[in-house]
Amino acid sequence: MKYIVLYSSRTGNTKKIAQAMTEVLPEGTLCLPMKEAPADLSNYDCVCMGFWADKGTANNEAQKYLSRLQNDTVVLFATLGVPPQMPHALKTMAAARALLPKGQEPVGEFHCQGKVDPAVIEMMYKIFPKGHAHGQSAERDARHQMAATHPDANDLANAKAFMLAVRGKLETRDTEQF
Ligand SMILES: Cc1cc2nc3c(=O)[nH]c(=O)nc-3n(C[C@H](O)[C@H](O)[C@H](O)COP(=O)(O)O)c2cc1C
Repeated sequence: MKYIVLYSSRTGNTKKIAQAMTEVLPEGTLCLPMKEAPADLSNYDCVCMGFWADKGTANNEAQKYLSRLQNDTVVLFATLGVPPQMPHALKTMAAARALLPKGQEPVGEFHCQGKVDPAVIEMMYKIFPKGHAHGQSAERDARHQMAATHPDANDLANAKAFMLAVRGKLETRDTEQF
């Protein structure tokens, strides 16, 4: 199986997850920012695409790559400001999945929390008044505080375990087809 890991990352959170996943893939597996992706991905058996959540979907750069992806075997991963179990996180993953052009059902999906750029938090609090859905609130402050330590060692370990499980699934599938 030939894998490639591609990611879009503004502040480095998603890059950390991408690198952790790559550590458990076959030696020599490429891990690249999407803008450095090879033009032709047809000789990869599995393409792993990582993005950061932006307004409830994949960030713009990732959207472009996701919507062009022709490979059948796809893994999606993401970092988001909200805790992974929140409905918003699941909806964000679903929105990104819906961008896949052939209706591919990813062989695996992983997401975890990632710290939000403090400059962006400050800007949002300036733009939106308290009481507004995006304005400052005790709940929002607590969420940002919780996100500030992510991705942490546990997230990286989970990302590796996830990718190992995906490998197991794909490599067993290939053996069964043989
Ligand atoms: C402009 C902007 C929009 C964002 N929108 C969302 C969002 O809709 N939902 C969410 O959970 N996190 C959102 N976030 C938080 C990021 O997705 C999160 O911090 C992510 O880990 C950043 O990843 P990166 O370090 O790889 O760039 C947003 C961050 C920015 C800067």
